[in-house]
Amino acid sequence: MRTFRAPGRVNLIGEHTDYNDGFVMPAALDFSTWVKISPLEQRRLIILSENFAEEIEVDLDDQNLAARGHWSDYPVGVAVVLERTGHRLRGARLQIRGEVPIGSGLSSSAAIEVATACALVANSGLQIDPRELALLCQRAENEFVGARVGIMDQFVSLFGHAQKALLLDCRSLEFHLLPLPDNVRLIICNTMVKHALASSAYNERRAQCEAGVEYMAKFLPNVTALRDVTIEQLEEHASGLDDVVYRRCRHVITENARVLSAGDALERGDLERFGELMGESHRSLRDDYEVSSDELDLMVEIAQKIEGVYGARMTGGGFGGCTVNLVADTNVEEFKKRVSLEYERATSLRPEIYVCTAANGAEEVV
Ligand code: GLA
Repeated sequence: MRTFRAPGRVNLIGEHTDYNDGFVMPAALDFSTWVKISPLEQRRLIILSENFAEEIEVDLDDQNLAARGHWSDYPVGVAVVLERTGHRLRGARLQIRGEVPIGSGLSSSAAIEVATACALVANSGLQIDPRELALLCQRAENEFVGARVGIMDQFVSLFGHAQKALLLDCRSLEFHLLPLPDNVRLIICNTMVKHALASSAYNERRAQCEAGVEYMAKFLPNVTALRDVTIEQLEEHASGLDDVVYRRCRHVITENARVLSAGDALERGDLERFGELMGESHRSLRDDYEVSSDELDLMVEIAQKIEGVYGARMTGGGFGGCTVNLVADTNVEEFKKRVSLEYERATSLRPEIYVCTAANGAEEVV
């Protein structure tokens, strides 16, 4: 039996930019999903989820496997996509255990996809370049599960690095690792609220970005994604754009610029500047992209008033889920106390607070 681990992620800045060929800056978390795998004679997968205390079985030669709104869609989707792209899999028994909080925007789905992919590839004696593997996992989520996610989550789950943030160019898939100073902590606050419409609203945002690209490309033929549009160009053509589409585009274009500035700030060790950019990112997601929620806004407002907080913003797709906070390590206890108290007082919800460190990407555990 072999064991593979893949982490969830938190995104420090660069939200809703990945599917616009833009820039993101996530870090892998010290929350992972583990997959234990052993080979089977027949071409079948027997998959046990410890979290759901449930076992399913599929035939790898079954051409009609389809998603059914079940936890197993993620590992089965990965197997199906590997097979469809010509990677012949050996049968296996998989045992999955996840500790990434589910549905809170910390990419439990990428963690299970990547851990399963690594396990299936190794069990079948295959060799797949990790960039390719990230793309295959994304494809499983796009084509099999049916969520049109970008590449950020799967990529950082494979390429994340301890104590580092990963600045990724989602067009070229080139990346830089940036040092996270050891006198600050990444603190994640879970609002404990998730909104049911999140996935349809996500797809709607993508369509609005595509509408923006289509319009801008009429004037600027080299534009294939919002990545290619400058803020000046957007302003120049604003009058012809629907107001909602204009604001969606403005978010993406300014967010890309913020990620690059945040990268420079981190390189200089300028945490004040980094924190300001996090605040600007949150406001842009709230007002222009409209993917925040009352609970996320409140969580950010509470955090920004606490001493030792460099920056706070919502993280991930939005519509509930978590905020990410950059906090001086001397103020962690005070931060946890104040956020819990004030958030619970205002909402009657008890938030979960995770003090995290950036961790390594997927690996075999020996
Ligand atoms: C989700 C998706 C990512 C990304 C973020 C928003 O986490 O899985 O690809 O688009 O939302 O930044």
